[in-house]
Amino acid sequence: MDFIKKITRRSFIKKAIITLVSLELIYVLVNLLKKGNQTTSSSNLFEAGDVDLFEKGKVYPFSTERFYLTRLKDGGFLALSTKCTHLGCTVQYKSKEDKFLCPCHASAFNKQGEVLSPPATRALDILPVSIHDGKIWVDTANPVKRNKYNRSQITYA
Ligand code: FES
Repeated sequence: MDFIKKITRRSFIKKAIITLVSLELIYVLVNLLKKGNQTTSSSNLFEAGDVDLFEKGKVYPFSTERFYLTRLKDGGFLALSTKCTHLGCTVQYKSKEDKFLCPCHASAFNKQGEVLSPPATRALDILPVSIHDGKIWVDTANPVKRNKYNRSQITYA
């Protein structure tokens, strides 16, 4: 009887080791597949709509894609990340105040994403915008960090 208990214990330990090694292999394989997918899709272009749909001087939320599309008064476009550059909360556009406010620690940003009030010290990230055949495309996979706004960040039709 004692012999049977030893064999059972040994076989349990073997099965446990085999299970752990199998889980480790699955984990490694899944991570390899993820890395393979990342190299094949380096951008994720989102079609925001026709240029003419967006009025000058207005801000349009794309919540599911986590950006705001700002059309500046001169007709240029900026896609601003909704992620606050302080600690990553989601900023909200307040049309009455014409600025983005962070609900976590009260940072504020203007329409170009520049810091109006700390604790954030850096402008909102921008997402690359391109315009083809009158349609606006936003690359949601490649946010660009920046310290300040400058006119070279604007895309024109
Ligand atoms: S996370 Fe936005 S102000 Fe702190």
